Amino acid sequence: MMRSAKVGAAQTPPTLPSPAQGVRWTTPIVETPGIVVLASWVWRLVRFLATLPLRFPVMVASAAASGGAWWWLDWPGLAGLWTAALVVSLVWWRVDSVSFRRWVALRLLAWWRHVMVYRRHWQPVLVISGLAESYQERRYLPRIRRVLCTAWADRVRITLVAGTSPAHFEARVAELAHGFGAPSCRVLVEGPRKITLEFPRRDTLARTVPALDVGARADLGALGVGVREDGARWALRLHGTHVLVAGVTGSGKGSVIWSAIRAMLPAVADNIAQVWAIDPKRMELAYGRDLFAHYADDGESAVAVLELAVAQMQDRARRYAGKRRSHTPTTEDPFVLVVLDEVAFLTAYHPDRDIRKRSENAIATLTSQGRSVGFAVLAALQDPRKEVMNLRNLFPDKVALRLDEASQVDMILGEGARDRGANAHLIDPTLPGVGYVRVEGSPAPVRVRAAYVSDGDITAMTDAYGADSSSDGEAA
Ligand SMILES: Nc1ncnc2c1ncn2[C@@H]1O[C@H](COP(=O)(O)OP(=O)(O)OP(=O)(O)O)[C@@H](O)[C@H]1O
Ligand SMILES: [Mg+2]
Repeated sequence: MMRSAKVGAAQTPPTLPSPAQGVRWTTPIVETPGIVVLASWVWRLVRFLATLPLRFPVMVASAAASGGAWWWLDWPGLAGLWTAALVVSLVWWRVDSVSFRRWVALRLLAWWRHVMVYRRHWQPVLVISGLAESYQERRYLPRIRRVLCTAWADRVRITLVAGTSPAHFEARVAELAHGFGAPSCRVLVEGPRKITLEFPRRDTLARTVPALDVGARADLGALGVGVREDGARWALRLHGTHVLVAGVTGSGKGSVIWSAIRAMLPAVADNIAQVWAIDPKRMELAYGRDLFAHYADDGESAVAVLELAVAQMQDRARRYAGKRRSHTPTTEDPFVLVVLDEVAFLTAYHPDRDIRKRSENAIATLTSQGRSVGFAVLAALQDPRKEVMNLRNLFPDKVALRLDEASQVDMILGEGARDRGANAHLIDPTLPGVGYVRVEGSPAPVRVRAAYVSDGDITAMTDAYGADSSSDGEAA
């Protein structure tokens, strides 16, 4: 796989003020007096020492006790013993809480990467990529605070130069990734003037993820559908939202849909959830139709299923009105997931205008009113442009698999997603199921891979959980 295929395309970054660009400085630059610089260093040292007992209370207390024993009681032996006990207990604590060897290895690796990669190339990479400046013999270079290594990535914590913002770095992720020899770079904002640059050392999503085990119960608010780049489980929320999965043909939309259905099965078996499937291509969902409460595969029956969902949703809303404001899945009022493969077939490509209009109305009604009464839509789409799908903003959650054009990334994941590293247009075609999502609590999009549910898995699922489903005409 070409490394260059994974990093962001060249973009026009916000430029730093630079005398080389002909900016005229009208106010004189005042050199900071040496005494002020010294005072600032002393202040930092004092602050560090003052906060030390708060950050490492046990260590500081033990060190103080050792020093005290030595100084006042003149017991160096006791001080030595105390220190040894402290070291042993720290090591013991580490061995006990995390894999000690792994911790040490990552610490050593972090030190090595800091010295040999980041510190060594820091200045040239940042100067050439336009993120550092020198002016009147002074260097304005962001400072590396710390380098940490996880099993798959390096995290470089830095302090920004005053006057620059994380946006400058977000616009330069391609240069940074190439500069430090990484497949990609993500910018994580930590606080005022503090950011972390995350450089993966290897692609953790390069291997197909086999279908995940079906749990004993389904958490409809966090269904495990794959893995995240950091190794964590990719949890997809379906209850209380609607999800749009966009990606070119062959990008793996089917694996997201099937992984979601698979993770829901315990709830389906308990009769507190139902899957209603619409499969215009007759290729994706037909295989597991025994799992679905309703199934449709042509325009007429698809609209009938959608309108039936709208009718049931509105009936439920009428019953809830004034009594309940949220839905809890029960056997009387199950959670209903309407799965729509290639939604544009109904809303844009179907030759019958009436079908197009009716499906669009039904989808718009379901997505705008279904959330709080337990109806959700999971739709797949190849082409996210407005002309093809003008309902995409009614889907609160979106998944961007491999896309055709860079401009489509922000259409799906929201403005700024591409600048933050969601290069869905550069996903390797040999990695179906890989995509980007926004997860709660993080503005930066997360790279994920859906688990691959094979035909054999679907057969096993229908054998274990399937029942004779209603079909086309019946749905209507
Ligand atoms: N998560 C995955 N991991 C590994 N391989 C996958 C994954 N998802 C899909 N594939 C492979 O990629 C092929 C295409 O996937 P899929 O049919 O899901 O794409 P799609 O986006 O639904 O395409 P279309 O829009 O044409 O229906 C599959 O036949 C399968 O071999
Ligand atoms: Mg498909």
